[in-house]
Amino acid sequence: MLDDAHGGLAAALADRTTSAVVAHSDSLVSERRLTDPAVEVVPDLASALVGAQLVVLRLPKSLDALDEMARTAAQLGAEDVRLVAGGRTKHMTPSMNAVLAASFEKVRASLGRQKSRVLHAGVAKKVKQEWPRQRHHDDLGLTVHAHGAVFAGTRVDAGTALLISQLHQLTDTDGTVVDLGCGTGILAALLARRFAHVTAIDVSAAAVASARLTTAGRVDVRRVDGLSECADASIATVVSNPPFHVGTTKDSTPTLDMIHDAGRVLLSGGELLMVFNAHLPYLPRLKHLGPTDILARDKDYLVTRTIHD
Ligand SMILES: C[S@@+](CC[C@H](N)C(=O)[O-])C[C@H]1O[C@@H](n2cnc3c(N)ncnc32)[C@H](O)[C@@H]1O
Repeated sequence: MLDDAHGGLAAALADRTTSAVVAHSDSLVSERRLTDPAVEVVPDLASALVGAQLVVLRLPKSLDALDEMARTAAQLGAEDVRLVAGGRTKHMTPSMNAVLAASFEKVRASLGRQKSRVLHAGVAKKVKQEWPRQRHHDDLGLTVHAHGAVFAGTRVDAGTALLISQLHQLTDTDGTVVDLGCGTGILAALLARRFAHVTAIDVSAAAVASARLTTAGRVDVRRVDGLSECADASIATVVSNPPFHVGTTKDSTPTLDMIHDAGRVLLSGGELLMVFNAHLPYLPRLKHLGPTDILARDKDYLVTRTIHD
């Protein structure tokens, strides 16, 4: 069972079969909801798929995430592995069939039911594993590694690029610098060139695996939900290109929570450097944390620096 958001699908599967049910959810938040004792929880995609006969998944938004799941299932699953992928019809595209067809001979869509639909894939092809991918960025002198489910793949997103252009404005520190929501680890890798103690945090297993490759052992990379495991007043600097989606839904709550928690973990005088889409409601919250300057802006994004009171 892949990417069950709430644990109910994995529990229902375990209830209906005598076979072992193994589950992997990219998000740690979803992983923690896999509480049925009959379900074995596995924190990485490949281990979950070794020997699998039936792979049930919630269709991810990203085609690259789906491609990595399908290729890994075709490569590591049992010889007769089948895949059953469900989603809301409004979020499904014919490209999803094409992605599955790269790894399986037979792909067909079910009839719709309650605004949802299922894609069935079977007869695994002999596929090459293409994940994680890598791309060297000459301008940054950095090779970015990316698993399928990670934000922006091997690209440097426009918001990330604007934030990178302002990293030089950070104050020097020997304290801990956190890249919060690190994705592929681009920001963490760049921060590690200047700061001795960099921690990269992401809730996504794909992000953490990618960031470990991108930062090549120079950064402490952790799969954690936000700043929850950071002690009070322990962090000198937080840098973040925060999430703006939860699954397929746009949601500002996780980032508002992160800003609130930054107030708890930052040392007095510590800095929060953040990039976000200018229409998002973060500025009032940031100003509540301490004096906040806009360091850069373009047609879409703002980069802000907040000094914690
Ligand atoms: C907009 S992406 C930025 C990724 C990367 N920093 C970059 O600029 O390319 C936001 C990241 O936040 C992560 N994220 C979402 N919710 C999180 C949470 N509760 N705790 C930690 N990271 C989270 C996502 O998995 C995603 O990698």
